Amino acid sequence: MAAGAATMGAAITGGGKAAFGEARDDRLTKGDIAILRFLAAAEILESDLWIQYAELGGVGTNPPLEVDPNQSLHNYQIALSTLDSDGPQYIASNTLDEVSHAAFLNAYLQSKGAEQVNLDAFRTLPGSTATGASGIKRLTNLMRLNVDTSWYLRYRSTTNPDLGATFPQAITLDNVTAIPRNNNDFNGASNPNFPGNDHIQAIANVAAFRFGMIEQGGSSLYAALSQKVTSLEALKITLGIGGDEIAHYLEWVDFSGNAVQKPVAPFTDPISGLTFPDFFNDPPLKPANLVQPSLIFPVPCEFINANLPHCAVIRPSDDRFAGAQAAVASLTADGLFTGQSPQFFQTLKQLAEEADDAYREF
Ligand SMILES: [Fe+2]
Ligand SMILES: [Fe+2]
Repeated sequence: MAAGAATMGAAITGGGKAAFGEARDDRLTKGDIAILRFLAAAEILESDLWIQYAELGGVGTNPPLEVDPNQSLHNYQIALSTLDSDGPQYIASNTLDEVSHAAFLNAYLQSKGAEQVNLDAFRTLPGSTATGASGIKRLTNLMRLNVDTSWYLRYRSTTNPDLGATFPQAITLDNVTAIPRNNNDFNGASNPNFPGNDHIQAIANVAAFRFGMIEQGGSSLYAALSQKVTSLEALKITLGIGGDEIAHYLEWVDFSGNAVQKPVAPFTDPISGLTFPDFFNDPPLKPANLVQPSLIFPVPCEFINANLPHCAVIRPSDDRFAGAQAAVASLTADGLFTGQSPQFFQTLKQLAEEADDAYREF
């Protein structure tokens, strides 16, 4: 190892080529560590937000889904079940996965002698006071979101943001809550079409679009950062976890499509005024296939070069649009960090800049 490497401290850890013909080189570069540290932070934040959904909308939480559906306290879970009868299980599973991602990344960093990420000092935000919420302080805020729904069109389009494409919103969701904020949010007008009510169904529908938004962002983030890691083992980690983000994303694409078709839509929340059209029968944008709910897989699009044949892929995957700083900008615009301290934003900014500064070394 070059003498200069000693000055990099934890930047170069682990051994060189393993014995007995095993070709894997598990040395982490400074850039690899920066990427894994940013991803650990992202997964801690993802865990924090998913736990908030799971407390109120997942299975195995208080209140349980099996309880009398006529009890208004359980109707967020019922509204989510209206979108997919397995919805509460999917929410619980997605949450479990995020917690595993965060715990693994930090344990892996420690096993390589690198510094772990700890955001506990920033767990300061009040969460929902609805029955079922734990009352613990949060890192993220799900109750005043500006949900970017352009992903819904992006994945149904033949153009690609990496090649300059931009997309309008599928549905405007500004200053909305994705979870019941308090027990008043459990109460609203009845809709004979489904066993929930319009107000709580609107909150569940917001959550549905936001599940897709957060998981497509994770899919793009891992795709972008995978191109910048050097260690093969770090690549195995980013591809492995990134693949799970894609698995999540696919379910939420289908789930959100159910929020904008019969029997759920069309309807209007009489309290917030939020309207969800039926995208099949009354598409908000033309051509109608750009919003067609059943187009759940990535539509083939421009990739690498517009002169090449279209290809069904994750997009964006360029770090200008999907890297660490882009992810932080997107989540900040989303309102996820509303109420957080300047120190929080500074910490996240530094982690993101260091991750984006990484490059593939050979
Ligand atoms: Fe994750
Ligand atoms: Fe995720």
